[in-house]
Amino acid sequence: MNLDSKIPSTPTLLSPINIGPYHLSNRLVMAPLTRMRAPDSCPTDLMTTYYAQRASAGLIISEATPISTQGVGYPATPGIYNESQVKSWKKITEAVHAKKGHIFMQLWHVGRISHPDFHGGQLPVAPSAIAPKGNAITPSGMQAFVTPRALETNEISGIIDDYKRAAQNALDAGFDGIEIHSANGYLLDEFLRDGTNKRTDIYGGSVANRARFLLEVTDALMGVCGADRVGIRLSPSGTFNDMSDSNPESIFVYLLKQLNLLELAYVHVVDALEGDIRHGANVIKLETLRAAYNGTLIVCGGYDQTRADETLAKGLADAVAFGQLYIANPDLAERFKLKAPLNIPDASSFYGGTEKGYTDYPSLTE
Ligand SMILES: Cc1cc2nc3c(=O)[nH]c(=O)nc-3n(C[C@H](O)[C@H](O)[C@H](O)COP(=O)(O)O)c2cc1C
Repeated sequence: MNLDSKIPSTPTLLSPINIGPYHLSNRLVMAPLTRMRAPDSCPTDLMTTYYAQRASAGLIISEATPISTQGVGYPATPGIYNESQVKSWKKITEAVHAKKGHIFMQLWHVGRISHPDFHGGQLPVAPSAIAPKGNAITPSGMQAFVTPRALETNEISGIIDDYKRAAQNALDAGFDGIEIHSANGYLLDEFLRDGTNKRTDIYGGSVANRARFLLEVTDALMGVCGADRVGIRLSPSGTFNDMSDSNPESIFVYLLKQLNLLELAYVHVVDALEGDIRHGANVIKLETLRAAYNGTLIVCGGYDQTRADETLAKGLADAVAFGQLYIANPDLAERFKLKAPLNIPDASSFYGGTEKGYTDYPSLTE
């Protein structure tokens, strides 16, 4: 059957789409959302309920999930580097699949956005020894970020191995694919931007060198999952986690042109957010990113239904991810279909806690 023939030429959020090998029933993506409700770094039954509640999204992207203990930088974040984590994630993917949903895992290494308290007193790692401004969220509360240790060139291959092991674990846990987290000031983003990458080896300097680590990780994970089950998240205009770049367009347009050759499942870009603009972001327009990238493009960042449908109709993106709206509206697709009122997200319960502000937002049918 030719599934493409069923897809209308002017899509809306509620039109189907093929992403990688999957036929998704709509173009709503649940954005990756760290919720810090996994004590002992292991997913819980409450998380199974939470993800299953949101299975009517065309695609769920899991919360950022550390690939190794070195990649951890927040308390109670669920990992994907040991067997009990794989077993617990499997319950989540089965619950989502039972409701005909699709779910990718976002693979995470936090880089310098961490603290020695997570690493037995060892320093967090980064491309260069530059401390971010601000505080780490540690098990004993907020503590000032420390100056990280610059990775040696010969350590990079070990981190790529960690990514490969994590991606295989994600497939073993039943995920439909993986999203490489290269956004928001974490390790791979730190390598891309010249504000954080001052290296003089083959991973620093030119745009090709700064993109090398991400492209090597991508190539390795294509080997594990197949290109059509690998997505990448980028935040080209992001300032979160003290990020900056003297010429973001040069690195991100170069990168997207390299990614064109790979036929990945998708690239997922975060638009400039209000906070980025307040922090003087060097904003790259969605039009520029769309022109550079030929494959499936997901966009995220402050979208509502109207703006999302306009963006899809203009062809500026192929699907739209929603973060805060998915926190508060487990049945966001149904609500958009019916133009029903939306629940309001409660920021005080975003990170940590129990079912309050997590699994207790009502659906229309409850
Ligand atoms: C509570 C919370 C947790 C988040 N966790 C992640 C994460 O784990 N990985 C990620 O790439 N982005 C994360 N983000 C960013 C969102 O995915 C999204 O880009 C952002 O919220 C903007 O989209 P929105 O305006 O639809 O909420 C988080 C945002 C929030 C509010």
